[in-house]
Amino acid sequence: MTKDTVLAMLRREPGFVSGEGISSALGVSRMAVNMAIKSLRAEGYVIESSTKKGYCLISGPNALNPGELLGCLSPERMETVHCLDTVDSTNKYLKALAMEGAPAGTTVIADEQTGGRGRLGRSFASPKGTGIYFSYLLRPEAAPADTAVLTAWTAVAMARAIEKVSGFAPGIKWVNDLVWQGKKVCGILTEMAVEGETAQVQYIVVGIGVNVGQDAFDGELEQKAASLKMVTGKEISRAALAAEMLRQMDALGADFPKKAEEYLQAYREACVVPGREVMLVRRDEVLRGTALEVTEDFSLKVRFADGSVEDVSSGEVSVRGIYDGEKL
Ligand code: BTN
Repeated sequence: MTKDTVLAMLRREPGFVSGEGISSALGVSRMAVNMAIKSLRAEGYVIESSTKKGYCLISGPNALNPGELLGCLSPERMETVHCLDTVDSTNKYLKALAMEGAPAGTTVIADEQTGGRGRLGRSFASPKGTGIYFSYLLRPEAAPADTAVLTAWTAVAMARAIEKVSGFAPGIKWVNDLVWQGKKVCGILTEMAVEGETAQVQYIVVGIGVNVGQDAFDGELEQKAASLKMVTGKEISRAALAAEMLRQMDALGADFPKKAEEYLQAYREACVVPGREVMLVRRDEVLRGTALEVTEDFSLKVRFADGSVEDVSSGEVSVRGIYDGEKL
């Protein structure tokens, strides 16, 4: 759409861009450029115009739309990015694309989810205009067990993206929540399909939700969630962060499986759990112990109250509480 490409050109250029330059770069009429500028203004973009110099983007909403993403990513990369206004779940949408044969790297990004899903059958609050709801398709040629580390690798990749764009380095709460003072800033839900005949991975959809611009959370989320705005005190560009998340996921796809050592080390450095008292839930049982370390396969080594030491896997238990006198 002309409007998206005009917005992308204005985002990339800090000064004025001539109307003639835009129309010839896009191969559209001056009238079409004028119409695009008009509809961008109606969406809240403040665009200065000068008969001599053309158009200059002064400010705009923190929108997550195709034009904003195109301002941060190349047109080639955007070919397999689906940017949606609203969807039930980006994971669900991407799984349908994966079944139709979408290539690795295909990404779905939404401004709002009406049925956002979290781990363990929970829901993931996905209000419009404040978060990033992002799903990325991987097609590793591997057996399912060898790809189990990808969720932890994604936590590393997302911590890198968030730090690069916001300056805040989140902690990782084993196994895959990114947190600030014990509150979730980013959650990850990985879903996989396995081919019946070969028992090889058919596709993996990695779904990532980031709380970006919320000023506060209500109800039970008040104690559980935080946004990048609450952490940094700044408005973080959702498009810039979504683009960086995509670059980090592209890098992860290329790094898997050879950079295992690097991702493990980065994970251990960011993980806030080892050394703390934890409460683990295994089936209906609640266990207390001390987390000792993250093992090479991203299990958690725990010493239980009776002195026994066990490596627990994320499929088996979840960490419900971390006790250290104060929140992390
Ligand atoms: C969790 O913390 O329990 C995982 C949350 C994962 C949420 C993301 S948002 C994008 C993708 N689509 C979904 O429905 N869920 C994931």
